Amino acid sequence: MCGIFAYLNYLVPAKREEILRILIKGLQRLEYRGYDSAGVAIDSSNNAEDSVSDIAIIKKRGKVKALEEEIAASTQSLDFDREFNCHIGIAHTRWATHGEPSACNSHPQRSDPNNEFVVIHNGIITNYKDIKTFLEKKGHVFESETDTETIAKLIKHIYDTKNEVNFRQLVEAVIQQLEGAFSLVFKSKHFPGECVATRRGSPLLIGVKTRYKLSADHFPVCYSKADHDHRPNLIPTTSEPQTSDKTNEKSKDARHSDKSTSNLALQRSDSTTEFQPIGPNREVEYFFASDASAIIEHTNQVIYLEDDDVAAVSEGALSIHRIKRSIDESTVREVITLKMEIQQIMKGSFSSFMQKEIFEQTESVVNTMRGRVNFETNEVVLGGIKDYMGEIKRCRRLLFIACGTSYHSAVATRQLLEELTELPVMVELASDFLDRSTPVFRDDVCFFISQSGETADTLMALRYCKGRGALIVGITNTVGSSICRESHCGVHINAGPEIGVASTKAYTSQFISLVMFGLMMSDDRLSMQQRRKEIIQGLQKLPEQIKEVLKTDEKIHSLSQELYQQKSLLVMGRGYNYATCLEGALKIKELTYMHSEGILAGELKHGPLALVDKAMPVIMIITRDNLYPKCMNALQQVKARHGQPVVICNEGDEETIRMAYKCLEVPLTVDCLQGIISVIPLQLVSYHIATLRNLDVDCPRNLAKSVTVE
Ligand code: F6R
Repeated sequence: MCGIFAYLNYLVPAKREEILRILIKGLQRLEYRGYDSAGVAIDSSNNAEDSVSDIAIIKKRGKVKALEEEIAASTQSLDFDREFNCHIGIAHTRWATHGEPSACNSHPQRSDPNNEFVVIHNGIITNYKDIKTFLEKKGHVFESETDTETIAKLIKHIYDTKNEVNFRQLVEAVIQQLEGAFSLVFKSKHFPGECVATRRGSPLLIGVKTRYKLSADHFPVCYSKADHDHRPNLIPTTSEPQTSDKTNEKSKDARHSDKSTSNLALQRSDSTTEFQPIGPNREVEYFFASDASAIIEHTNQVIYLEDDDVAAVSEGALSIHRIKRSIDESTVREVITLKMEIQQIMKGSFSSFMQKEIFEQTESVVNTMRGRVNFETNEVVLGGIKDYMGEIKRCRRLLFIACGTSYHSAVATRQLLEELTELPVMVELASDFLDRSTPVFRDDVCFFISQSGETADTLMALRYCKGRGALIVGITNTVGSSICRESHCGVHINAGPEIGVASTKAYTSQFISLVMFGLMMSDDRLSMQQRRKEIIQGLQKLPEQIKEVLKTDEKIHSLSQELYQQKSLLVMGRGYNYATCLEGALKIKELTYMHSEGILAGELKHGPLALVDKAMPVIMIITRDNLYPKCMNALQQVKARHGQPVVICNEGDEETIRMAYKCLEVPLTVDCLQGIISVIPLQLVSYHIATLRNLDVDCPRNLAKSVTVE
């Protein structure tokens, strides 16, 4: 989704050029979240004598690069050497939801032509039409098609009608009117040097950089008096309340209320020590962002905001407020030290993040297993769920719920999980699961798999299941994400930051995490020890085998040259390889814009065979597992229709190689792990075809990395 970045310097002098450089760099780090337009708002005065409060907005359709060029062209109107002792700049990269990509629809959105209030927004306001109608009746004239503009105009409306309300109280009044999901950062010419930020259902964190020591690791949340509560009569609402609100309501979960923190969740203490930089001048810089990758190069000290927190910076001091206090909620926010390294979010010598992430899989799979799998004793321990294993083993059934690639990781491991757990296993697409209002019971264990930990459909499904009393297990790659925080317990996949929009290394790490879960579930089954041993040995060899596959990159590149002008590409397989077909086809369509379908080879004769002829490119996955004879049947059927199958097969498998039009050989591993190896050639095929088609592999059109809207 959209990316939010804001920078506030207090008693740290910075030239406008430097401020803009920081804002643009922040946006570039977030560009993978959404990228059809971008914009910034900064103080517009050119010298210290000017009123410092006027705001300049610069916006541009296209990528952050286009905005950077637009800014460079504004040297005439903006003095780049002007130095600010205190300044707040806000910046945004957009992925359109309401209104087409255009400079006008991009953010910051403003309250009026004088830019009295400007705001950046990630999420969707579901009752924006009601608010817009209300404001139009009051004389406000809208210039964009966005839901966000209603927020900018609403804050001005409240400011104009209320006396003696401070900036933070204005924002509190605004969010009481909003339904839907948002993270917001506001700037105003009426409150120079101040910044207010808030979130509900969309991530937002604050980086704190100071050369002085912070006085505490935690600081208290302040509870605001709701005397400025406009909710009862400001805007007549006709729309349905937001679903997540409804599910939140239901999720007052007595059964698990004692388990609200996990190893994934932020650990909190009840200390109420004040947060303050300690030093003579209290020099401090704050960074507000939708995710940590934009902040890490400035500071590793961050605070994750919770839903409905309102964070305000005034005269360099940060405070966090909430309007209402509910039972059980933590009254402090922890200052967390991020472990992420800046190198992890740099491309290095690779041409794209996606390429880097494909090649990183030799290490990311090791990081997923590190400290969890003991290859000597065959023990597997997932620290984040070990205390819940008794409950999980006694459950009625296991549900795995996710979207896209994360869903495929569950499809890939379903058979193994059924075998190792001997429990019914349901694998569900989050959106469909919710559409069906699927029955969920207190003795169900529900797994939510998500790289970002923020996918709206998955998060809503989590709240739905939590409200029905199920045990919630999060499997994510993003510490501090909503799914982490709302799960009872979980597994962090440790794949490292994934920036390319198409998921690659997160998939293989999710796959391994689910395998490790299966191994943990079966550790006390005597009859399964041989199978467990075989799988654990397979896991140990994976990094080397992935390295072998990556060595075939040049061959895959040549094959892609043959394929890149085709209109369509079918990917077929069955059994353990079926998920690989689905995942390979998803990678191909999202990156190359070619039509591609993952087909279960067992279904071939029930319809898809009609697609096959001499001209239709087909990739088949045929590896040496118990379904090999059936897969060879499918190969015969394709060949009988003059198809020319490219076969992904095991190294040295002459029988298969002879039958193939072309082949990509991959090392043989245990049947249930083969998908980790055989998906890599498909990741590389999609990468090469997209590059040959001159497409942007990191930012495929119309897609966003983190889908925080339904
Ligand atoms: C495809 C892809 C998407 C995501 C899906 C879920 O390459 O990346 O299909 O897998 O949007 O995202 P997460 O895993 O963040 O919940």
